[in-house]
Amino acid sequence: MLRSHHCGALNEKNSHEEVTLAGWVQKVRNKGFIVWADLRDRYGITQLVFDEERTPESVFKKSLDLGREDVIQIKGKVIERESKNPNMATGAIEILVQELTLLNAAKTPPFTIEDQSDGGEELRMQYRYLDLRRTPVRENLIFRHRVSMAVRNFLSQADFIDVETPYLIKSTPEGARDFVVPSRMNSGQFYALPQSPQTFKQLLMVAGFDKYFQIVKCFRDEDLRADRQPEFTQIDCEMTFVEQEDVLVQFEAMIKHLLIEIKGVELENFPRMTYSEALQKYGNDKPDIRFGMTFGELNALAQNKGFNVFDSQELVVGIAVPQGANMTRKEIDAWIEWVKRPQVGAKGLVWVKCNEDGSYKSSVDKFFMEEDLAQWAEATGAKAGDLIFVMAGETSSTQSQLSALRMEIAEQMGLRKADDFAALWVTDFPLLEWDEETQRYHAMHHPFTSPKREDLDLLDSDPGKVKANAYDLVLNGNEIGGGSIRIHNTRLQEKMFDLLGFSKKEAQEQFGFLMDAFQYGAPPHGGIALGLDRLVAILGGSETIRDFIAFPKNNNGRDVMINAPAALEASQLEELYLKSLPKNPS
Ligand code: AMO
Repeated sequence: MLRSHHCGALNEKNSHEEVTLAGWVQKVRNKGFIVWADLRDRYGITQLVFDEERTPESVFKKSLDLGREDVIQIKGKVIERESKNPNMATGAIEILVQELTLLNAAKTPPFTIEDQSDGGEELRMQYRYLDLRRTPVRENLIFRHRVSMAVRNFLSQADFIDVETPYLIKSTPEGARDFVVPSRMNSGQFYALPQSPQTFKQLLMVAGFDKYFQIVKCFRDEDLRADRQPEFTQIDCEMTFVEQEDVLVQFEAMIKHLLIEIKGVELENFPRMTYSEALQKYGNDKPDIRFGMTFGELNALAQNKGFNVFDSQELVVGIAVPQGANMTRKEIDAWIEWVKRPQVGAKGLVWVKCNEDGSYKSSVDKFFMEEDLAQWAEATGAKAGDLIFVMAGETSSTQSQLSALRMEIAEQMGLRKADDFAALWVTDFPLLEWDEETQRYHAMHHPFTSPKREDLDLLDSDPGKVKANAYDLVLNGNEIGGGSIRIHNTRLQEKMFDLLGFSKKEAQEQFGFLMDAFQYGAPPHGGIALGLDRLVAILGGSETIRDFIAFPKNNNGRDVMINAPAALEASQLEELYLKSLPKNPS
């Protein structure tokens, strides 16, 4: 071993011991006759001291050349510090160095390896291995390890079996585009990387595995956001002989267990909310229920009173901002501008101040009487001192715009606290979603999700009304998981493909294997997949999953460290039967 202890281990109890340490030089302070250096490894920092009088001359001389991030080994004696640092595990001691070996000199790093680095995001991504040396980044990955081990142990103890499924597969239609891989041995043919192991886990149920899990990479070629990466990790699970209730109970238990084990937080039973209730009350199918500001529908109270802007609209809806009545006109105008930004896309906002004295002041005083505004206050739950913001328009866009406003106000008011956790189940999703662009139905979850038994008759007459046995798990306003009870009957699966616009031939070509399997004794089954990156990030107090991934991609889907994706050599393209493509000029 190149060391006797690691850099977070030593304290007063080790005084006078001879030790050998190895690590990276974090910082050097040279006073001429004495040199202090901080030595860092994964476990912590230990202060080294090179003293003109007490350190051998040749060693002292070498210490004058130490630079940041040099990798060194030292031998020395643990001594008590004159001025102790109680905030550091090793703050009571330092090592009086007797021997120094430079194991590897380092170039000066392009940014400081400190908790608060001076490097910009792009630069830190380019030198990710240096960024990973920083304590907060390293801590995030260690945290991820703890969460994924807790998941693994919990599921294994609950009798789930970890089975690996292939990465080179045929595309599964889960809504996003596939990443594809050309096959050298099969000219002109391509594998697809899995968007999830959906069909394989179902086949494992047909095979009798009963309970399966896998912490598995999934690949989706979609636009990126703070909570989306092109390759991400799912905790993928499936169970046999279960109904929706069984799956919800099992995974609610897992999340509760994780919160206790990882955060020491005990959660109440998770509330359940139907999809339509979530949209009505929060304008969003992944509501953050840690704070109020629920939607109040105002159609009956605000339409046909002479205010044309409201009259012609499908939905008039408001929220009450707690203590918002003291906002200045300038602050209100800033919110109006905020909702008009293209990312939100609203036309504007009507506002009503509910004054402390019981009077009302609004931007629509010309059209509405105080009694009207009092009714709005009741419908939105506004109290004296609150401010009501009202939006009107087509139902689904207005819901999502007001939801965006609700979330932003809560963010700015500090209501979205990172250490406050609220989970819920959203259930009763529609089975199908009409897509105007392609003029056909899409599966809201995926094509393997079963319709609710009581809605089976509607499949022919009014497919858009059919509800699915599908559920999402929401934590702090983030969708951290989704699943369903599956179709396990060939005829129903065929019907589903038919509704989704697949011809018999297409369905057979793409999913013949699954429908065949259903004919050999497929048991009822269902499951869920949780986004591990999202779960870890939220438990870690963030909504940016990149911070919890060792080597993430940037927003353009690039790995700027290895510079991928990249062009291939002409010879490689030829071998893969791909025509040589013009080089991307950028
Ligand atoms: P779904 O598509 O809902 O379901 O995915 C499950 C969970 O995976 C996470 N997730 C992502 N995380 C990071 N980056 C992404 N691009 C990304 N996409 C999804 C989310 C999401 O809730 N096979 C089904 C599951 C099932 O039915 O059992 C599936 O993949 O947290």
